[in-house]
Amino acid sequence: MTMEPEMYRLTVNGEPREVQDAWLGESLLYVLRERLGLPGSKGACEQGECGSCTVLLDGAAVCACLVMAASATDADIVTVEGLTAETTLTDVQAAFLDEGAVQCGFCTPGLIVAVHHLLEHNPEPTALETREALSGNICRCTGYGRIFAAVDAVVASRAEQSPR
Ligand code: FES
Ligand code: FES
Repeated sequence: MTMEPEMYRLTVNGEPREVQDAWLGESLLYVLRERLGLPGSKGACEQGECGSCTVLLDGAAVCACLVMAASATDADIVTVEGLTAETTLTDVQAAFLDEGAVQCGFCTPGLIVAVHHLLEHNPEPTALETREALSGNICRCTGYGRIFAAVDAVVASRAEQSPR
């Protein structure tokens, strides 16, 4: 008996993408990086502990290493690559650079996605809310002070541009 190659479709960054010849147990992180050419999401612990692989799944921030890609065929998936056009930075990315919140950078893509998610749902978080929202994103370089400063800078800049 011959097995037909598996194929399924995902919607990633607004585009339909075919995943060919896949093992159905592959994680979304693996499929994004190794099959769809989107290496922005990083694999570190691959156990849902570090947040390096954070993506948006139907608007929720999730660890892509814990999601089976084949189970996400009906979902709207957004990776760090999909937050902005290729040649521009989001205000969050720019603030990370300006505040020196990037050291080795391994945690950065996951944090960028998590910060976008936080500010979309809570545009003016308290310091405690920011810490709580980002508590699943581990920075091995321990640059938390500058990361929180970057979040504060984005909040201030957005408030300045759209005063209430
Ligand atoms: S690689 Fe997914 S949480 Fe660490
Ligand atoms: S900048 Fe190195 S892990 Fe965060």
